[in-house]
Amino acid sequence: MDNRSRLYLAGAFALGVLLTLGYKDVYPDLERRFRARRRKSRVYKDSESIVDASNRLILRDLSNPAALHLPEGDIREGIEGCIGNTPLIKIKSLSEATGCEILAKAEFLNGAGNSPKDRVALNIIKVAEEEGLLTPHSGDMIYEGTVGSTGISLAAICRARGYLAHICMPNDQATEKSDLLLKLGAEVERVRPAPIVDQNQFVNMARNRAAEHTSDPNRPGRGIFADQFETEANWEAHFNGTGPEIFRQTAGSLDAFVIGAGTGGTISGVARFLKPRLPELKVVLADPPGSGLYNKVKFGVMFDPKEREGTRRRHQVDTVVEGIGINRLTNNFEVGRALIDDAVRVTDDQAIAMARWLVEKDGIFIGSSSAVNCVAATKIAQQLGPGHRVVTILCDSGARHLSKFWARARPIGGEDELSLADILD
Ligand SMILES: Cc1ncc(COP(=O)(O)O)c(C=O)c1O
Repeated sequence: MDNRSRLYLAGAFALGVLLTLGYKDVYPDLERRFRARRRKSRVYKDSESIVDASNRLILRDLSNPAALHLPEGDIREGIEGCIGNTPLIKIKSLSEATGCEILAKAEFLNGAGNSPKDRVALNIIKVAEEEGLLTPHSGDMIYEGTVGSTGISLAAICRARGYLAHICMPNDQATEKSDLLLKLGAEVERVRPAPIVDQNQFVNMARNRAAEHTSDPNRPGRGIFADQFETEANWEAHFNGTGPEIFRQTAGSLDAFVIGAGTGGTISGVARFLKPRLPELKVVLADPPGSGLYNKVKFGVMFDPKEREGTRRRHQVDTVVEGIGINRLTNNFEVGRALIDDAVRVTDDQAIAMARWLVEKDGIFIGSSSAVNCVAATKIAQQLGPGHRVVTILCDSGARHLSKFWARARPIGGEDELSLADILD
């Protein structure tokens, strides 16, 4: 190559370098964009990202025509639209330990009051509306006696539909619940725990307050007593919702359903739906200390040694567990009682240890009644033996139980290794 050609070549090379640098100056983010595009096309080559009904980002396979069908706009009608259709979760640690599938319905994911009581509160309000008992924004007020969860659901749904809520609750329940009720704009009366024969017992008080409201000519609207312990709208909400959902989610394949009872609405409603369809299903009551239901199911008598005259302590049901356990027979328990096959007594220590176990092993943070359910479900799984499927309910989050139930739990991630045998024995 002669000198001239070399000169041309060097000049062309220098020009190329200058042009490239200039181009990058004019479009400083060109390279970044190019890289981002390449990255994207690598990941989404034959797919497209979409958000599914549960807000999960998923990839849609564009090469598969069947996958192109998307549900039409999944929009919920208000907060009431976020009630029901909760997920059924396999609890991995308990399933592995027992060789059974232990499945839990995540009822704490109900959207209004974050417990299964959302279903009940909504149904009670709908029934009252259908009967013409409620008029939005008229001053109508719903009164309820509750240890908390039903009140929280009622208070939230009342706000959504133009009603007011007045909640009577025992004063020994975790303060998180009464604080939450106040933030939802409910009126809250915390009353001394008392037996049902006392007119100041929280359920009687709510009934009386509703009657006082209606008969007071100076107050707008009327008072409606929700009456969760006795109303048919309670168990029917679970008969029409929780039961069918479990049946569908398990494709009708389950061996036992295990749950505690407060009003009894959940156990009765679910049992009444499932038992006729699955005659072999075992329905098992999980009962905390001090509750008479265990003996009623096992021996036909409503009696607990802790309830002996003169030995009663702070509360009618002497346990740190809230929401389940009772010493009278309610209509909601009675309508399903004949379908309950067995009962398991769970101590407070077992419940607290199980709640800790579920955080340690599974990252699941639950409240006291859910912990009782999980202890009993695991015991039943052990009784049935490997290969069976047990369904229970996770009622509410541990966040509702920080000051009482969770305050008694030892720290998570501590030195002491938990063993399931220690929890269950
Ligand atoms: C926290 C909690 N515990 C227990 C239960 C079960 O109660 P019940 O027998 O009233 O249906 C519920 C209810 O739905 C609940 O929300």
